[in-house]
Amino acid sequence: MLDFLGTLQRTHTCGALRAAEAGSSVVLMGWVNRRRDHGNLIFLDLRDRTGITQIVLDKDLSPDGHAKAEQIRPEYVVAVVGKVRLRGAEVINPKMETGAIEIVADQLLVLNDSKLPPFSPAEDAIANEELRLKYRYLDLRRPAMLRNFELRHKVALAIRQYLSGEGFLEVETPILMGSTPEGARDYLVPSRVHPGSFYALPQSPQLFKQILMISGFDRYFQVARCFRDEDLRADRQPEFTQIDLEMSFPQQETVFAVVEGFLKAAFSVAGEPLSAPFPRMTFDEALRLYGIDKPDMRLPAMTEVSAAFMPEQLQTLAIAAGQPIVAVRIPGVGELSRKERDDLRLVYPSRLAPNALKVMDDFKRLEKSFPQAIQTIRELTGSAEQDLVVLVVADGKLGDGRVADGEVRFGDGAEGKRPPTGDGVAASVLTGRERTIYEMAGLVRLALAHKFADRHKAFEKRGTAEDYRFLWVTDFPFFEWDEETKTWAAAHHPFTSPHEDDLEAGRLTSDPGAVRALAYDIVLNGTELGSGSIRIHRKDVQAQIFSALGMSDEEAHKRFGYFLEAMEYGAPPHGGIALGLDRIVMILAGEQSLREVIAFPKTARAIDLMVNAPAPVSEIQLRELHIRPVLKN
Ligand code: AMO
Repeated sequence: MLDFLGTLQRTHTCGALRAAEAGSSVVLMGWVNRRRDHGNLIFLDLRDRTGITQIVLDKDLSPDGHAKAEQIRPEYVVAVVGKVRLRGAEVINPKMETGAIEIVADQLLVLNDSKLPPFSPAEDAIANEELRLKYRYLDLRRPAMLRNFELRHKVALAIRQYLSGEGFLEVETPILMGSTPEGARDYLVPSRVHPGSFYALPQSPQLFKQILMISGFDRYFQVARCFRDEDLRADRQPEFTQIDLEMSFPQQETVFAVVEGFLKAAFSVAGEPLSAPFPRMTFDEALRLYGIDKPDMRLPAMTEVSAAFMPEQLQTLAIAAGQPIVAVRIPGVGELSRKERDDLRLVYPSRLAPNALKVMDDFKRLEKSFPQAIQTIRELTGSAEQDLVVLVVADGKLGDGRVADGEVRFGDGAEGKRPPTGDGVAASVLTGRERTIYEMAGLVRLALAHKFADRHKAFEKRGTAEDYRFLWVTDFPFFEWDEETKTWAAAHHPFTSPHEDDLEAGRLTSDPGAVRALAYDIVLNGTELGSGSIRIHRKDVQAQIFSALGMSDEEAHKRFGYFLEAMEYGAPPHGGIALGLDRIVMILAGEQSLREVIAFPKTARAIDLMVNAPAPVSEIQLRELHIRPVLKN
């Protein structure tokens, strides 16, 4: 029953024809989206990537075509030879771009049939994501998915064009390579030729791009595939794509301007004009104002309000004195009922264990006993009548706020009494305990924001400049204290340059926690889009950093010897950044998961359900690779 295509050529796509083409003879090919049988007339909706066109098979005009159409089922592939006809005024479909016309078929060729699909590409996404991923080719046929990939293509192209125009060379770097310093687990590839040796897939092209600067390439970029074996979330995939770039002789500002330039270009092709420069905020400010290093600025910042209370009031309220009292304000939510407050207990971060931190969300009751304090808080936070305000405080029950084991741990070594360094340039003058309070308040803020999204509506797209709130976060701390190993670890990667002031002041040894990195993140609506830094280009500074990280010369050379050697041959000052392309497209497409913008993504358990990977391999392959699996029962 299948027909051969012969010499027939498609003249138009299924989204192309309009009223102006009425009367033309055309050949269309595509998939049968739906079929409606009205006896002597059968209607087919013919679909391809560009759209849908209605085909009419009239038994009188094309008895043969009509007979075939009776047998046709959804997702059959057909060719139609026919004439464009204007639809009568009463049957024009304004919802379809081709809704003013239809094709009266002279001939219908059935090019392929189709099994009954497990779900219909003509419908919206089904809830069963596993089925969508297993039959990804059917899922990708859905117009909503095709739109996402058209968007992805346009965005990537705009970025390529912009960077190329700014003098960046696109260079490909190896996929089979050695370990990179991004800090996730590597995917390893065993070598057949070198028994017991492995390549690592790149977590990023970090060291290669730095070497390209040492090679004098001046400006590099790559739409780079990266691989990280880490726990997956909606915005993380084991394989993802970075817009990766590096420049020679830049200031931080030079990098910012390039990124703002390409994001403007990318958003503009998606019909979303942006204005630049984007606002900036130091890491320290971000923590105090939003409790997180990737603030979602579509909602108001937090406010420290301890000044509103007298010491004896703190005692009455069992709030630890001398610690921040952080007010979180969510506009338009209104006063909470008793039940809503009870329900919130489930929403608040579980780390808000009793005896350490608490959320005070019964403002009505507080107001009765402490009208003046609450009035001051309302003023300090700028809250209007309908705004929800809650306080995140250190629980004073334990007197000095010290916490018991198993409760919230206040990081940063002992009690974290890092004083301001006097010249006001310390990375963070927050002690570990203060930082925890701000971070918990930040989590409470996000929990409330998501819980009451339908009331404050700040996450809804309005078609204004407020839809996309970009932010540069700068001056990250260079080191993070690792509570487990009791050592300092590099917060970004160990090739990031510290602030020159902090180096000159000797803080690398005297106060590592106060050393700021010349590292920056670009954040959009609470998502980290990208991360980068000005790099170390002097080997003496690099040696100091390795030593501060407790890495011996030997270890450093074993891991990054080739790079350290390259640095000895005239490395220019350089810096760069990498942005997640998948994340940019996800946000622009209004999607909640990277899987909606990656053609063949993996599940949360890192499985490709369509090709069924990973999978065991044959004994012979394993033997060739000198590998014997040790499987646990
Ligand atoms: P970083 O590790 O911060 O920096 O990564 C940069 C950006 O890449 C994206 N990204 C991811 N996207 C999807 N799934 C993942 N698993 C994933 N991991 C990271 C994020 C992130 O902001 N070499 C440095 C950059 C530099 O210093 O130039 C780097 O890779 O959007």
